[in-house]
Amino acid sequence: MKKVKKAIIPAAGLGTRFLPATKAMPKEMLPIVDRPTIEYIVEEAIASGIEDIIIVTGKGKRAIEDHFDRNFELEANLIEKGKLELLEKVNQSSKVEIHYIRQKEPKGLGHAVWCARNFIGDEPFAVLLGDDIVQAQTPCTKQLIDQYNETGSSVIGVQTVPNEETHRYGIIDPISTEGRTYVVSNFVEKPNQGTAPSNLAIMGRYVLTPEIFEFLSLQETGAGGEIQLTDAIQKLNESQKVYAYDFEGKRYDVGEKIGFVKTTIDMALENEEIRDELYEYLLKKVNELNITIK
Ligand code: UTP
Repeated sequence: MKKVKKAIIPAAGLGTRFLPATKAMPKEMLPIVDRPTIEYIVEEAIASGIEDIIIVTGKGKRAIEDHFDRNFELEANLIEKGKLELLEKVNQSSKVEIHYIRQKEPKGLGHAVWCARNFIGDEPFAVLLGDDIVQAQTPCTKQLIDQYNETGSSVIGVQTVPNEETHRYGIIDPISTEGRTYVVSNFVEKPNQGTAPSNLAIMGRYVLTPEIFEFLSLQETGAGGEIQLTDAIQKLNESQKVYAYDFEGKRYDVGEKIGFVKTTIDMALENEEIRDELYEYLLKKVNELNITIK
């Protein structure tokens, strides 16, 4: 069985929920405290044993490439000033090979993944969405790769969402479960409100076999007129087993405003440099606003 060594990070979406901030800046570069969102994702991939990453970029996304490139002028400046800790932080992500491909038009997540087909070739691979951060003891992608290593089948990361939110996600229709693993009959992208077959939602982490490209190459459009990855996964599931895995960890949707703010607060409260001051500020704010904490 081939090992999962490559990952695709789709980051070519328009980020309309974050306009006007994303007019000239990729949403994947929005900073969570002092690091861009996409850096957390690249780090999860590295911690999961991924050796080669391809980031799918698009118009206006050059900042992503610049971020993962070396900046000799900046490095020289930091060395001269003795700021070696910062230098280490600046070069964090140079531990892995990062490649880029452009999606010429944002035709949907399925299309973005398809753009990376030649890079992947005939190997299983991981997909990590560029605007979803997962904090977990065992990196989320590693959890999925461990499952793949047991079965040799594709495995999709899911978590439970409230019933009223199911229409925003890809939802699975589970047949049976063993521990955290589900056998699935259907994968449905953004079901109409009240029609979702479960409240187990696809959460931006996947391990897929290369046969997925056969279905993506059909370029069929689905929900929202986009080429949906979930639809191709549904087709793949009809010809080979695709499992869902209820991964352990906290997932943050950084691509929407409230998710972004919550992520920032949580990460800031874990940051030794600013934690105490922020905590005091939040308490003061709660008092000022006269909010009762339940
Ligand atoms: P989203 O649907 O969350 O991203 O896609 P979006 O389209 O940029 O966001 P809004 O709805 O307009 O605010 C999830 C991930 O898939 C990528 C996005 O960059 C994001 O990381 N994506 C989406 C692509 O790479 N290409 C696409 O055509 C669509």
